[in-house]
Amino acid sequence: VTEETGVVECTFAIIKPDAMRKGFAAQIKHRILADGFHILQERQLQLSTDIAQEFYAEHLGKPFFEKLTNFMSSGPVTAMVLSRVNAIKAWRSLMGPTNPVAAAEQFPNSLRALYGDKENTTMNATHGSDARLSAQREIKFFFPKRPIFPAPTHQQSHEY
Ligand code: TYD
Ligand code: MG
Repeated sequence: VTEETGVVECTFAIIKPDAMRKGFAAQIKHRILADGFHILQERQLQLSTDIAQEFYAEHLGKPFFEKLTNFMSSGPVTAMVLSRVNAIKAWRSLMGPTNPVAAAEQFPNSLRALYGDKENTTMNATHGSDARLSAQREIKFFFPKRPIFPAPTHQQSHEY
């Protein structure tokens, strides 16, 4: 299946606290749009450690779990719903490999190569869903009331 004939999907993305702190959010969003994604939803928020642990529950028990969840709750993040043909794969590919050192070696133009911390895999600038099911779960987790139709742009009731 080529990119042209692929399916339009949604995926979930986070600009992590390290990239937010270093002022990379605008450049990252620019790359997202240049790669043909639409940003359907966006919110800036700071996670509590509890929420970070719930979000990353699949990694519970792994050696990096505590460091990861403490880091993810250490400052504001930008959460986004992205859509595009083959969005899940395309966003993973734009981010590059998990480890910023590997990203720099293999895909020097990837976001994690450019904006991730080469000394610290945890601070790798961005998050992306890894499959349809996780994308659905993660979108619901951060945007629980995502409307099916856009909100009306004018008042529904009038007083004359
Ligand atoms: P993972 O889901 O394996 O990577 P990805 O974000 O590419 O899907 O891990 C989640 C996050 O945990 C990862 O973005 C950074 C952090 N992490 C570490 O700090 N050390 C590690 O060894 C791994 C594998 C991940
Ligand atoms: Mg993952």
